[in-house]
Amino acid sequence: MVIGILKEGAFEKRVALLPESVLSLTKSMVSVLVEENAGEKAFASDVEYKAAGATIVPKTEIFRQADMVIMINPPSEAEMALFRENTILLAALNPYFNTDLVRKLALKNITSFSLDVIPRTSRAQSMDILSSMATVAGYKAVLTAANTLPKFFPMFMTAAGTIAPAKVLILGAGVAGLQAIATSRKLGAVVEVFDVRAAVREEVMGLGAKFVEVEGAIDDKSAGGYAVEQTDEFRKKQALAVHEHAVKSDVVICTAQIPGKKAPLLLRKETVDGMKPGSVIVDLAASTGGNCELTRDNATYVHQGVTIIGNSSFPVDMPTDASKMFGKNTLNFLKLMITPKGELNLNWDDDIVKGTCVTHNKEIVHERVKALINP
Ligand code: NAI
Repeated sequence: MVIGILKEGAFEKRVALLPESVLSLTKSMVSVLVEENAGEKAFASDVEYKAAGATIVPKTEIFRQADMVIMINPPSEAEMALFRENTILLAALNPYFNTDLVRKLALKNITSFSLDVIPRTSRAQSMDILSSMATVAGYKAVLTAANTLPKFFPMFMTAAGTIAPAKVLILGAGVAGLQAIATSRKLGAVVEVFDVRAAVREEVMGLGAKFVEVEGAIDDKSAGGYAVEQTDEFRKKQALAVHEHAVKSDVVICTAQIPGKKAPLLLRKETVDGMKPGSVIVDLAASTGGNCELTRDNATYVHQGVTIIGNSSFPVDMPTDASKMFGKNTLNFLKLMITPKGELNLNWDDDIVKGTCVTHNKEIVHERVKALINP
């Protein structure tokens, strides 16, 4: 079997597999082709890929020879034109939003697997690229806030007097939120946290933060560890509580999400108006509308002295470890479809393989994507 690794678009610094991950494949008798300079921005050279057993080729050769193409971002129009029928594609396709692309993949008879829809089960945990990238984003969000805040994070007792620690408010304690709590605590901040799932309370407190509970949240245990939409009454109550805590905070990190839905609005304009000048908001949910009413996707600006950061691509700015995590997750997924002799074996009885496949045999096979496209 031949696997091809592409160089990503100009805005991207990550690469789907680093040489260390390529080595695992070549050891199990898979031939790996890597596009010239694919790992350059993640500090992985062609020489290292060659040492791991890969062959360096131009992009067109990958599409000509590979049985499977692996990339991070969805293919561009130009790349779509190069695909041969029956090729397998692994990428984070964002299929709930990129519905045109999904249609084209089906039409071209590409068997596509979208790594961002891997079911969130315990067996699939080691393949979960969304959790890996959220970990990077939670960490980077706090470092960015600390770098922007005109104050220290830790408490200092100096000859020039005592400096109080920064107050950080974190909205949502999922993967990104928990990482943001841990990073803020390591930097010495005092941390408060809101979430609608009571299950995270212990974890939040274990990291040394205060869990602020708003009574009346709908906490659906059957939602697979995800939140569900709340009633209007709860939202009003929560907005008041968030307001009370946000106006006393130096930093607010927004990470609340309900998968496949617009991000819940938790930080209203009135609240930002009431925050102290110099405060910082980092909204990780910017690409789905933001938890803050004033967030602009992929933009940073200052509103009445409060800096609002809507960076939606933090993992791009940590290409080495983000690529390492993406590659390890992908390798674990590949183990479900490659035999020890390096041959392809698509096992449709495996719930992870089936649940991740978006298009196959010219059909859209992912139930949720299909329902979106043909309602
Ligand atoms: P997650 O689903 O693991 O966590 C979201 C948390 O928000 C859950 O704990 C949920 O209970 C909570 N939540 C939902 N509604 C809430 C409400 N009304 N009030 C309080 N909490 C609420 O999601 P994950 O993986 O941590 O991702 C968080 C966000 O970060 C997502 O929007 C994701 O798209 C984004 N993200 C951003 C990146 C960037 O570079 N900006 C990179 C990776 C992820």
